[in-house]
Amino acid sequence: MSSILGHQDRVLSGMRPTGQLHLGHYHGVLKNWLKLQHEYECLFFVADWHALTTHYEDPTVIADSVWDMVIDWLAAGVNPSSATLFIQSRVPEHAELHLLLSMMTPLSWLERVPSYKDQQLKLKEKDLATYGFLGYPLLQSADILIYKASQVPVGEDQVAHVELTREVARRFNHLYGREKDFKEKAETAAKKMGKKNAKLYRELRRRYQEEGDHEAIETARALLEEQQNITLSDRERLFGYLEGIGKIILPEPEALLTPTSKMPGLDGQKMSKSYGNTISLREDPGLIDQKIRTMPTDTARVRRTDPGDPANCPVWELHKVYSDDAIRAEIEEGCKTAGIGCIDCKKFIIDAVVEELAPMHDRAQEFIEHPDMVRSIINEGSDKARDIARLTLEEVRQVMGLSYK
Ligand code: TRP
Ligand code: SF4
Repeated sequence: MSSILGHQDRVLSGMRPTGQLHLGHYHGVLKNWLKLQHEYECLFFVADWHALTTHYEDPTVIADSVWDMVIDWLAAGVNPSSATLFIQSRVPEHAELHLLLSMMTPLSWLERVPSYKDQQLKLKEKDLATYGFLGYPLLQSADILIYKASQVPVGEDQVAHVELTREVARRFNHLYGREKDFKEKAETAAKKMGKKNAKLYRELRRRYQEEGDHEAIETARALLEEQQNITLSDRERLFGYLEGIGKIILPEPEALLTPTSKMPGLDGQKMSKSYGNTISLREDPGLIDQKIRTMPTDTARVRRTDPGDPANCPVWELHKVYSDDAIRAEIEEGCKTAGIGCIDCKKFIIDAVVEELAPMHDRAQEFIEHPDMVRSIINEGSDKARDIARLTLEEVRQVMGLSYK
């Protein structure tokens, strides 16, 4: 099902600033952002409050990582003229929405989110029995809902958070989207679209409600999207009326599952800071060379003359990412017949990684030399984000009885 209302094509995603970005981030997340920024309206932000939930004892990591992370995004090709880049804490509206949502979110919904217990077990050295950590997914819901984002690109581990967001939105709309004379108001709103459109809208609504025709509701939504002459409130009523409920104030987002990139690390496990097997996006070419040269290989290849099997070698995992079929065939043959040495084999990877990172190094260097450019990209992005966030918050305050005039 596509998301309901307004911003059909708005993508929002965040990243926690907890250290240097590495090739895992590039292949797993950033490459996807680069594609999305051409296809959708994109908002990408630094989730510094989320980082605090786990790093509250040592916040310097966050402070150090924020600007570096933005530079890495820019260096990787995130384009501030197609995507809005900002820092979460620069848009305090997220916090107000989080607070307001916390009033109506059942505690059990948060306790049930799998990452809550998982992370507590995984990060045993940290005390995560905090109020803030429990609220982590709800803060994420606020991040998403405040922009009425329709799509949220996330990895597998975050899907449950988007699911929670949908439930929170549904509950919110159910509680606060009700109006005394909803039906009359919706009918009046329909008329404002003009006779022909109103008739079409009613017919599509009937087909959906009486016959469960999903195509009809999609068509009706598209029809509402096109309307220029109706107010936001009326639009929300008409979207809600289609389904027979109240106004839809906070639309339900969808998870846009990032194609799972299993970017392998230097030891064959998934590349991750906690395994210490990373190559950072700003890694010096000399160090790239050294790190790959010293990677473990198939343990059967003790001597150069011993044949090996790529299936037992972490270097081969990198060939799957970086080499084409021809090179891979050459390696496989060479490895199994001891025709090539491991250093020759690794050379391909070293060259590919150095080549991939070279343009990023150059771009990063430019931003490092001009920090004011980075500051102004973020200032502008944060202003833009706040303008959107404020509108949503105004509506939320109003329906929750908080706009005293
Ligand atoms: N929790 C996300 C992560 O760890 C980061 C995040 C925070 C996020 N708010 C978000 C992602 C909103 C998508 C949308 O990766
Ligand atoms: Fe691994 Fe390549 Fe050496 Fe074979 S030749 S063991 S694939 S590094």
